[in-house]
This record gives sequence, structure tokens and C-alpha cells, in this order.
Amino acid sequence: MIKRSMFDKGLCVFPSMIVKVLSRRTIAFPVYLLIFAGSIHATEQPKIIAGPYLQHVTKTSITIMWETDTPSLSMVRFGKSRFLPKGKNSAPLDQQVSSTETNTIHELVLNNLEPQTDYFYQVHSHNNGKQGVESKVLTFQTAVKDTSPFAYVVMGDNRTYPERFKKLAEKAFAERPNFVLNVGDVVSNGANKKEWITEYLAPASELMKRVPTYVAIGNHERNASWFYRYVSYPTPENYYSFDYGNAHFTIVDSNAKLVPGSKQRRWLEEDLASSSAKWKFVAHHHPPFSSDADDYGNTSVESSRRGDPRVQSLIPIYEKYNVDVVWCGHIHDYERTWPIRDGKVDQAKGVIYIQAGGGGAELENFAPTRSWFTAKVLRNWQYCLVTIHEGTFRMMAYDIDGRMYDFLELKK
Ligand SMILES: [Fe+2]
Repeated sequence: MIKRSMFDKGLCVFPSMIVKVLSRRTIAFPVYLLIFAGSIHATEQPKIIAGPYLQHVTKTSITIMWETDTPSLSMVRFGKSRFLPKGKNSAPLDQQVSSTETNTIHELVLNNLEPQTDYFYQVHSHNNGKQGVESKVLTFQTAVKDTSPFAYVVMGDNRTYPERFKKLAEKAFAERPNFVLNVGDVVSNGANKKEWITEYLAPASELMKRVPTYVAIGNHERNASWFYRYVSYPTPENYYSFDYGNAHFTIVDSNAKLVPGSKQRRWLEEDLASSSAKWKFVAHHHPPFSSDADDYGNTSVESSRRGDPRVQSLIPIYEKYNVDVVWCGHIHDYERTWPIRDGKVDQAKGVIYIQAGGGGAELENFAPTRSWFTAKVLRNWQYCLVTIHEGTFRMMAYDIDGRMYDFLELKK
């Protein structure tokens, strides 16, 4: 970062002091002027308070975001990884994109990139090139070619306990995935702006500055405007789809309308019908199949629906379009189902549902009896790693201490 003088840092506290000082009405006029001048000077020196972090990545583009404490212009310098001429020892950043308007939450798209290629990047925020701040030089990789192997991590429900999420995010980054899919509830209250930094962006910063992340919006995000400001996905962002390698990912908003005839349900059908990808994955926050103890009926005294009825209505669509795995969360532990079709286990043609809600929030309990669909449960904080090459899918699920407790291989 560009170094700021102690004088600049000291002046940054003045705006919050002004109200207190003025209310006393005892301060001399020249001192007001000094404080006012100081507050203006302080706003000219933006400071990065979140990010940078990577969002939607394709074979030829990526979105980079960050936040500054004061409105400023945005610029990203970037360049392709390459061997340097002898004597040079800094990353080549020979291209740049910039905005013409000032923002606090910055979002720039880098286009015309090469597939499956490593790049260096550095974000800058400045006021007309005078006072500025810049990040370290960081890295990203564009999406792989359709025939190449790739890996992604799935985690979710990290809200409220940033220390646990930080530990899991570090483990996720240690896997060096191509991207991360978060099944939602990334913050306790999506309307509370500061939680987007304290609960989501800051604990996972080491991961998110180098690995693109996708979120399936949870109920705790509350469909708040901050969700749309802090993330960047294909429109309309609360539901969207993307391709990566030979796979198609469809992200559903399970808080929004899903009844027959609803806009999102029509979109979901069209999206799945139009994809010819080898692998099809769906993600949404709420689980169609879950052995939770009390969310779908209190299993100590009554029957349970063993899953969320609203998303259970989507099961025929998943079966019709041969979705391979549906990822979900909401319940704070892990559960994998057998392959399911027509309400029973069908190992040849079934859809597998994996609840990966052990991202940090308080753990929940399972019903005391095993569900007919359960293949594996784990009551612990956890994340999943998926690797794919051509017709081979492998999923390894790890607990917060790095122990692998589940493994799944699919071939087609
Ligand atoms: Fe939830």
C-alpha cells in the first residue's frame, strides 16, 4: 500500500470528533477551520477496508471488487504471468481498466483474457491520481478449457462465527480450488452492512483475493441491498447460472417464489433444458432432503417432512433434467443422500443431494432415527472438495480439523 503519514492517519479521526466538539460550543473559530480542513484532507486519502476479492470468472473475463472508506476512482492494473527478462523482478502489469465515477464499493470487469491462464493484478483507488491507495500484487486464473480437470470447494452457513469460518476458508484455500461455491447464510443479518466485512469478506480474505467465489443467497441475507452491492454474478444475481469446464452450475434463490408458473421456476427449467454440459449441478440454500431434528417437524414428538417442502417441489425438475448433485445448506451439519429418483433410491439414475451447512454457525442435531435417503451424516463444521475430469467426479468432505469423513465417486 502507498504509505500514509502519521499526520494523515491522525486527521482521519477528526470527522467523528467534529460533532462532539461543536456541541460544546466552546471551541475557537480558527480551530473549526483547522478541523474542517483536516476532514477534507482525510477524505482525499482512501483506505481499502475490504478486499480485493474475485467474483464471476469465465474463460475470458473476471470481476474484481474491493471497498474503500471514502468515494474514489477505481483502477485495476493487470498482466499475464510470464518469465521476466533478466534483472527484472516485478510482476508485469501492462494492462489496466478503470472507472470514470467514484465509488466506495468498487467493481471492475477484466475482459479479453486468455482461458486457463494465470494473471497478476493490483487494485488502485485514487482521487484524480492525487491521493491514492493500492493493494498488493495478487493473482487469479481464468476458467479452464472445457476438457481440463478442475476443482471447486462447497461450504455454507459460515455466518456469526468468523473465527471458525476463517479456519475453514484457510483450509479451502489450501486446496487451491478453481472457485468456491457458498450455499448461503454468509452473514447473520444481510441488512447490517458491517457484517458483510466482519463475517464474510474479512475472515475469508486470503481465499477470496485469489479464488472466485459464488453464493446461493440464504435467508439470513434477507434479500438486502448489500447482497447485490457486495457480490457480482450474472443477472439477476439472486439466481443465476454459469459454466465452468465441462460442468453447468445453476444457482437458485430458495427464499424467492418457486411455485409452478413463477418466473424463477420457468427460468430454472429453461436453464437446465438448454445446457448440454457433461455435469449439471444445482445449488440453493434450503435442503430438499434433511434429517434435521426439529426444522421440518419436531422429531422427538412428531413426524418430520425431512426436508423443505418449497424446494421439495423442485425435485421433479432435477430428475427430468438429470441433475447430478444438488448442493444446499441451511441446516448446520453435513448430510449426503443416496441417488434418488421417484421417491426412492435409484443408484443408476438418481439425483444426489448434499447438505454442506457446516461452515461455522452453531451445529444442529439430527433426528434420532435414520432417514430412508441418508447415505452419510456428520455433525461437525466442514467443507467439501470436488474434483472433475471428463466423466469422473470425486467429492471429498473434510471436517474443520482436516479429517476426511466422506468420499463419493461418480463416473459417466
Ligand atoms: Fe439458513
